[in-house]
Order: sequence, then C-alpha cells, then structure tokens
Amino acid sequence: MAADRGEFSSRFGFLMAASGSAVGLGNIWGFPTNAASNGGAAFLFTYLILAFALAYPALMAELIIGRYARANAVTALKSLSPRPSIKLVAVLVGFVGIVTVSLILSFYSIVSGWMLAYFFEPFMRLLGLNAVGDWLVADTELRNALFVIVFMALTIYIISAGVKDGIEKWASRLMPSLFVILVLLILYVFTLPGAMAGLKAYLLPDFSRIANPQLLVDAMGQAFFSLSLGVGTMLIYGSYISKKENLPTIGSLVALLDVGIAVLAGLLILPAMYVALENGVQIFDANGGLVAGPGLIISVLPALFNTMGIIGGVVAVAFFALMTIASLTSSISMLEVPVAYSVEHHGLDRRRAAVGIGALITFISLVIVYNFDPMFDLVVTYTTEYSQPLLGLFFCLFVAWIWNRNAILEEIRQGCPDAESGLFWKIWPFYIKYICPVAILAVYFQ
Ligand code: PFF
Repeated sequence: MAADRGEFSSRFGFLMAASGSAVGLGNIWGFPTNAASNGGAAFLFTYLILAFALAYPALMAELIIGRYARANAVTALKSLSPRPSIKLVAVLVGFVGIVTVSLILSFYSIVSGWMLAYFFEPFMRLLGLNAVGDWLVADTELRNALFVIVFMALTIYIISAGVKDGIEKWASRLMPSLFVILVLLILYVFTLPGAMAGLKAYLLPDFSRIANPQLLVDAMGQAFFSLSLGVGTMLIYGSYISKKENLPTIGSLVALLDVGIAVLAGLLILPAMYVALENGVQIFDANGGLVAGPGLIISVLPALFNTMGIIGGVVAVAFFALMTIASLTSSISMLEVPVAYSVEHHGLDRRRAAVGIGALITFISLVIVYNFDPMFDLVVTYTTEYSQPLLGLFFCLFVAWIWNRNAILEEIRQGCPDAESGLFWKIWPFYIKYICPVAILAVYFQ
C-alpha cells in the first residue's frame, strides 16, 4: 500500500517538500509587507509567537492525522470519526479543503505567472527584443492568461511524476537554490545606499501597534497561510512520511524553516524598498504607508532594478527566479491535494488526474484573469481569510475532541518512542484542545 501511494525517501526530501509548500509568495511578499505596515518588529514579534503557539500545533495536527491514516484528507478525517454524523462532517471538511486549496491555486497561479513573465523580461532585452520585453511587463489579459497556462503546466508536470520522482525530486533541487539566491540578494542589497534605513523600518519595533487587533488578525492569517494550513496540504505530505520519522522534530523544523525564510525575506524586501527610495522611486502610497500590494513586486522593485543598469538585469533575473521557485514548490503541494484524493478515492491514474484537475483549475484561473476586478480579491478573501482559519479550527477539533488520545500517542511514538515523557506531549494536547480553537475563534471574530 505504502509503495503504491508513494513515500518521501528521506527526511531531507520531506523537509524540502514541506518547507517548499510553506515557503512561497506569502513569505517573500506577504510577510515583509505585513511587517512594514504593522509596526516592523512589533509584527515580527507577534508573528513569531503566533506561528509557534498556534500554527505549529495546528501543523502537527495535520501531520499526525496524515501519517496515521496514510490517506487524503477526506478518507483520513473519516477514519478518525466514530459515528456516521461525524463522518459526514469529516467528508464536508475534507471537501471544503479540496475546493479551498483549488481556489487558492487558481489565484496563486495568476500571481506566479506574473513572476515568470518578469523573469523572462531581462533576457528579451538582452537579445534586443525590447518590444517583447515591454509586452512581458505590461499588465494585459493575454499575457496573464498565457503565463497562467505555462505555470500550471509546470505544476502539472511535477505532480504527474509522483511523490518521490516529482515532488521530492524538484523540491530538493529548488529549495536549496532558493536559499542561496535569497542570501546572495540580501548580501548585495546591503551594500547599496539606503539599505540601512530599510533595515531600521523592518527591525525597530513600534510597540504602540501591538495592541492593535488588526495586527493580530494579519499575523494569524499570515501564519496560517504561510504554513499552508487547513486545506489538507500538510496532511497529505504527512501521509507520505515514513513511520520511522520523529514527527514533533520534523514538524518543528518545517515551522523553523518557514519562519526563518520569512524573516530573511524581510531583510531583502524592506532594505530593497528603501534603496529604491534613495534612487528616486516612490515607495509610499497615498496614505503614507509603504506600497504593499501587487505594486510592490511589479512596480517598485522593477523600477529599482531599472535604475541599476546592467547589474539590475542580473538582480531582476535572480529575484524573479526566487519568486518563481517559491511559487512552484507551493503550487505543487496545492495540486497534490485534489490529485491524491482522486487517485485514492476514485482510482484515477495519477497522470490523468493531474492533467484533468490541473486543466480545470487553469480554467478557473483564466475566468479570474478575464474578470479580474470583481473576482480576484473576492477569491483571495474567501479562501485565505474565511475558509483557511476555519478549516484549521476543524482539524484541531477532530484531533483533540474526536480522535482517541491513546491512538494519537501511539502514532507519535512511532519514530519517537519516548514521546510520552517529552515536552511536546506535555503541552501539545492541551494546546490543541483548548488554546488553539479559542484563539482561532477569537482572532476570527475580530
Ligand atoms: N504557504 C504558501 C505561501 O506562503 O505562499 C501558500 C500556500 C501553499 C497556501 C499551500 C496554502 C497551501 F495549501
């Protein structure tokens, strides 16, 4: 059975795949801009607490369910449910997760397509194809549609190849490259005038903001989105982990990698913005806040690269390669959720499922591309602000209130025989039962 479903071949492979899912546009784009508009290090501080106190326990819930059930979210949640009425809820939660993650992928692939287009632009200029370069960075429906298709084709290609030969192989190549590019870019930006002002804006805390409810909501949303929680991604990756692995340890490594890369990305984006300011680029919006939305990545940073001459082209390629890699290792984890379900539940061939479901999601993306204004924000808000935290809550409730405590301990003990006496087991069950649900609801109703 395990061999049929696929399994990560090593701890490194799992870590690259799971941190690849977690590290995405949310880290490199979302986190630094959230920090900049929410009091710098005050946000960082709150985010760190929420990530480890709320998101990490929720991540562990998904990994443990996944590895126990060795199945997709629908089948896994059903297997934990003792009664038909609860099984019904399980199926519903699993399905809403599948729909939510598919919709997340449908908007994520649009933004990822932009990253891909910006990646190719400097090459076109180098070849003297300036008209093509201009077309690549002009916000047209045709460009967006074409690049959604290219990006989704890459995602489908990797998922078709399976867990070990697709997800693990590509994540193990792409994630170390991402790290190297990120560090090199930080080192380079630090040498430029203006960078230190950006560092200050990022790292000097404005603690007057910490009591602001918006900061809490933003930090929790960021933590859930960033760790890919609630939609069954981590559950399905958990289902491919070997029974020999120590779950609390590898879960905390994933959280550490995710948070670490978000913090590092802040060291790149904010200094880069202030370097842009130094070079005469407008980095503040009409309200005096830092430009944060799409404008940051597709206007402020490209404007900065343009002021840097030939080296600007190299930096632009490196930066958009970074963004594309971050997107791709996340998008594959999203497509894996509905694909695994169709393969396991309906007996579909993996390749066919990946192509069929991928095509359907691409179609939804194209509908959004051609109806951008009414649809894009709506889909983002519905999926990430409403659906994801609520689903995360249900996962916690299933583990803490429905599943049998001994069975959970038994699962954790595999790969971690002395789990019972460890710190994790002393704290986590209480957390997942009381603190996480109450905190998620409290922040949700803010
Ligand atoms: N964690 C990704 C990011 O930070 O960009 C986004 C994401 C991936 C969300 C996978 C949901 C998901 F299932």
